[in-house]
Amino acid sequence: MNFAVIGCGVIAETHAKALKRLEKEGLKLYACCDIVPEKADAYARRHNVGKVYYDDESVLADPEVEVVCVCVPSGTHKDVSEAAARAGKHIVCEKPLEITPERAIAVAKTVRECGVKMQSIHQRRMMPTAIATRKAIQEGRLGRICLAEAQLKYYRDQAYYDSAGWRGTWDQDGGGALMNQGVHGVDLVLWMLGGEIDTIYGKAETLARKIDVEDTAAAVIQMKDKSLCVIEGATTAYPGFSTTFAFYGEKGTIIFNDEGVVEWKFMDEADAPPCPEAGAAVGGSKSNVDITIDGHVALIKDLADAIREDREPVLPPEDAVLAVKVICAIYESTRTGMPVRF
Ligand SMILES: NC(=O)c1ccc[n+]([C@@H]2O[C@H](COP(=O)([O-])OP(=O)(O)OC[C@H]3O[C@@H](n4cnc5c(N)ncnc54)[C@H](O)[C@@H]3O)[C@@H](O)[C@H]2O)c1
Repeated sequence: MNFAVIGCGVIAETHAKALKRLEKEGLKLYACCDIVPEKADAYARRHNVGKVYYDDESVLADPEVEVVCVCVPSGTHKDVSEAAARAGKHIVCEKPLEITPERAIAVAKTVRECGVKMQSIHQRRMMPTAIATRKAIQEGRLGRICLAEAQLKYYRDQAYYDSAGWRGTWDQDGGGALMNQGVHGVDLVLWMLGGEIDTIYGKAETLARKIDVEDTAAAVIQMKDKSLCVIEGATTAYPGFSTTFAFYGEKGTIIFNDEGVVEWKFMDEADAPPCPEAGAAVGGSKSNVDITIDGHVALIKDLADAIREDREPVLPPEDAVLAVKVICAIYESTRTGMPVRF
């Protein structure tokens, strides 16, 4: 199955390494494309890619390309993904799916209309601890969850924001600590809770970096059953901390981070589900180049299997819309000073 990476920047390295690991599954990094020719050429040399393109139309016109990895700035995911879908290519799309709910929903709609498959990248969903926690929650092992937390404390210095013109801008990054880094955790905590959102109270501030978007944010989400979910997001927390998720229930509590389980407590210890193995750490909180590849490997392999078996991938685009909606509601609440009814 021939893959083309579009956008040969930082995260494209993770895609190349993931595809390398999946070679034995019959997946091949066949082509790459960047509108900056030197970046495409250097990437091709580094990863031994046979075909190099400098514009999206050409790579999408190549009939040998079956799947594209969309690794371009977030605010261009829609344009590139829709063009790929119309060219009949299956898609791996980096997070966030897009930077506004309208654009994200439009991508999902086009993907469906064109009959191609899309896997959205939220690699924490493939962590063994996350999968086991969600199962425990769904089986009711924690009882009623009254309080949940997502602590998303990253560190990105000014040099990070200055390293590419789109970073920290509203029109291309769509936000900062939440829309870029924190979107992983917002996605994960809501995937865990599964319930319906009632109201969002948010504050997103630019406190320490010279950027347009927020570097520090906090929000309270009230679910329809009145339970509360607290989200903290920052790129100002030196030196950057493992993202941490907590689910406090009347019959048990689970806390886990990017390395594994921190608390696995059940009132009825004899009937407790088995505590999952840690799996590989996820990385990414201290810098944007220390992201481990296991989650990407799992999501790309699942898409390839979904194409071969003609089934849904585990993270279709519709599932990636909610985090974008919630983050934009936190921005709206900040602007108006009012809660947002969801
Ligand atoms: N899953 C993760 O943990 C993770 C981590 C980092 C970045 N990302 C996401 O990946 C995306 C890219 O981020 P990055 O840090 O790699 O950015 P980057 O700036 O390092 O790379 C983007 C590349 O895309 C190229 N480009 C721009 N428009 C293009 C187009 N139309 N066609 C071809 N090439 C084009 C640029 O020249 C650049 O080389 C973002 O959406 C980001 O949110 C995800």
